[in-house]
Amino acid sequence: MIRIAVVGLGFMGKTHIGAYNQLPNAKITALCDRDPDRVNLTSLDAGGNIETSSGSVDFSDVPKYTDYDEMLAKGGFDAVDITLPTDVHAAFATKALKAGYHVFVEKPLAMDYESAMLITAAAEESGKVCSVGQCLRFWPLYTEVKKVLDSGEYGATRHAEFGRYSPPATWIVDGWSENSSRSGNASLDLHIHDVDIILFLFGKPQSVRSVGVPDGNGFFTHISTVYQYPEVSVTSTGGWGFSPDFPFSMRALYVLDKATIEMDISKDHPVMVFPYGREPFPLELPEGDGYRNEIIDFVERCESGKISEIVSPSVAAESVRLTRLEIQSARENREIVMD
Ligand SMILES: NC(=O)c1ccc[n+]([C@@H]2O[C@H](COP(=O)([O-])OP(=O)(O)OC[C@H]3O[C@@H](n4cnc5c(N)ncnc54)[C@H](O)[C@@H]3O)[C@@H](O)[C@H]2O)c1
Repeated sequence: MIRIAVVGLGFMGKTHIGAYNQLPNAKITALCDRDPDRVNLTSLDAGGNIETSSGSVDFSDVPKYTDYDEMLAKGGFDAVDITLPTDVHAAFATKALKAGYHVFVEKPLAMDYESAMLITAAAEESGKVCSVGQCLRFWPLYTEVKKVLDSGEYGATRHAEFGRYSPPATWIVDGWSENSSRSGNASLDLHIHDVDIILFLFGKPQSVRSVGVPDGNGFFTHISTVYQYPEVSVTSTGGWGFSPDFPFSMRALYVLDKATIEMDISKDHPVMVFPYGREPFPLELPEGDGYRNEIIDFVERCESGKISEIVSPSVAAESVRLTRLEIQSARENREIVMD
């Protein structure tokens, strides 16, 4: 049984707790939030853009803390799950690793590559499991398509495009995500999901060229990027400057030699395959979502002590690095070549 402390009881904290609560080999044994009302959690209703957890919970027997250092010192858990605003990920994650706990930390791993590398170094020194919430690497909408692309059944992938569009995040506590020095705005917070999946599917691009809607603080409410690869053209767009009723949307399009594959979560069949010479068909997707699957993986790793190569801090740091290069490209209005 892996004993978990969850720190930050907002949208993602509640989402993770909902996932742990379904597992026979995990138990919440500590809760922490600096807000004394929020720490007394009684409901998992979070109001986020993709809700996978809801309903009432009874944590009356679970120790609760408004002070993180006090919680780390008291202990009573094996792993710390950090679902806090991005600007404090590095400080909180390195502290927990240095104190000898396994760590799950939400994406983006950190505000910049240097801070992400602090977590990477602390994780490597500790020898503890440290997984990052780059959940698309566990989401069947993407992982099942990756299997098709990698199989070569429909030939080579010639073009891929990704979209992530969101109304403003109304659930956010204290409006931290609107402060781009704490979140990196949509250009880091939202868009990093597609950057990460592009790295997962196609590896490191040769260069990026981005444009965006600037927020006056060096970040962007929308960002669009062209990724240069030798044999596939890749583009992506992400933003959250849409009107309040615009539905949250995740999309992708893959153009292969012998088929086109479309992903759109608003459709009844979210992934459709359109092969040449055959009727289109929906791609079969296993049960489960990325949030639940990443937590299952994390708990299993805490049990085995086996470190992830898919969502390790060093892998997630590369997603921060590439996203920051895109932001730089849009700021400086030029192509950035990757070393
Ligand atoms: N994987 C995903 O799809 C996904 C989706 C949304 C958010 N996120 C990420 O998860 C993280 C949290 O986002 P959220 O939407 O849950 O935010 P949120 O605003 O809903 O919740 C944050 C919580 O942290 C608490 N908190 C803030 N500072 C604290 C501190 N110093 N000590 C203790 N508690 C503190 C707040 O009181 C609040 O309860 C962010 O990094 C965000 O980018 C990931």
